[in-house]
Amino acid sequence: MLNQTILKVLHDAGQYFHTYSGSTFVVLLDQVSKAQTSSIAKDIALLCALNIKIILIAPSHPIGQPFVIRSDEELEQLLVKTQVTQRKAEVLLNQAFYQYQINSAIVSSSAVTTKPYGIHNGIDYGYFGKARNIKKELLNHILESASCLIIPTFGFAPTGETFIMDGLEMAEKIASSLQCQKLMILTEHDKLPREMNATQAKVLSQDDNLPIHIRSLIKNSIPAIEHGVERIHLLNKATEGELIIELLTRDGIGSMITNEPYDEIKPAELTDIQALKALMQPLEDDGTLKKRSIQELEKDIHNFYLMFRDNSLIGAVAYYPYPEEKTAELASLIVHPDYRKGKKANQLMQFVEHKAHENGFDSIFLLTTQTAHWFMGNGFKEAKISDLPKDKLAVYDYTRNSKVFFKHIV
Ligand SMILES: CC(C)(COP(=O)(O)OP(=O)(O)OC[C@H]1O[C@@H](n2cnc3c(N)ncnc32)[C@H](O)[C@@H]1OP(=O)(O)O)[C@@H](O)C(=O)NCCC(=O)NCCS
Repeated sequence: MLNQTILKVLHDAGQYFHTYSGSTFVVLLDQVSKAQTSSIAKDIALLCALNIKIILIAPSHPIGQPFVIRSDEELEQLLVKTQVTQRKAEVLLNQAFYQYQINSAIVSSSAVTTKPYGIHNGIDYGYFGKARNIKKELLNHILESASCLIIPTFGFAPTGETFIMDGLEMAEKIASSLQCQKLMILTEHDKLPREMNATQAKVLSQDDNLPIHIRSLIKNSIPAIEHGVERIHLLNKATEGELIIELLTRDGIGSMITNEPYDEIKPAELTDIQALKALMQPLEDDGTLKKRSIQELEKDIHNFYLMFRDNSLIGAVAYYPYPEEKTAELASLIVHPDYRKGKKANQLMQFVEHKAHENGFDSIFLLTTQTAHWFMGNGFKEAKISDLPKDKLAVYDYTRNSKVFFKHIV
């Protein structure tokens, strides 16, 4: 049993090896302890062994907010602290690289030219700086031969002065400038959605119920998505192996901000019936979906949820709850042909899962004749017809001979 579980995890992870190979991810550590850094270093070493390049930023000071650095002494203390933190991370990484027998280099380099953050609301932030230029060519050149690049959170101005920088600004600017696939922030958070796009994340960053630090992290990392980074992951630094679980398992573990456009899912109304029928018709004609008349649709419309982009219907799903059996049917999952292969069906499926979860159900199920493999790839397992809720079983159409699939929800 244990062997089977291990095999399944490895097989699931296998699909990501190829996807991520050759990619560059920026990993930002938000005030992590030595034990946490040690665990993260092992994750990073494993990712590097899979031919993923990591840019690591490990600031010694809090991220996501500017702070005043008045005197030369204060600056010097911070520079020493920054270098000590970075050196400790480097030592732990070297140990992990040695353990995995990775011969590729870990290199440390400054990455930015800086300028003063300046005076805001009458407060002079002194030696706190912000990015003026990212040394893109230099960083790309280093990454050609190194697996892991550690970047300190300070930079030099052309005038010769040194400025301390915000780790988050540094991470966002580097990820954007190098067009990295991912920006991964190891912090401490709770109850963030599993997935949101930049528009939803902006709304969340104004939610007073969230800790101000998390709001600031979300708000200040979103520009990375706007500048072409595909995903921002907010991860819990306290969970061992969080980086690996997030990247190499299908369901992940953290919270992800994506570059997907905002597609609204809302309950269907009677006025949507013509558009819904037009979306369903070709699939009814080829037998993928059961035929329904306009009258049947009218009766059923309150069970449908529709996905719109710019007021055009691009997807649909129906939700039928069976409270007695603590389950719900997902039906009529459709994505408009022009929008397929963009994980829209996944969003609709997650919407249904979320509804079932809100209703206190343990599972969702569906009947399908032609789409079994898509559902199997998305966590559904084949079940027996007799596993259906009794009211559904009573109307099961044996002439369609649909297969039954269930998915347990947490
Ligand atoms: C199945 C469907 C909802 C998927 O929508 P989507 O937003 O494109 O889904 P995703 O982006 O998550 O997945 C796309 C992948 O699913 C695959 N896929 C599509 N239909 C499939 C099927 N019937 N069986 C297996 N895989 C299928 C695509 O080939 C694509 O694979 P790739 O990523 O390897 O290229 C969409 O293809 C559709 O509307 N199909 C017709 C309606 C239907 O069959 N609904 C189910 C009724 S029970």
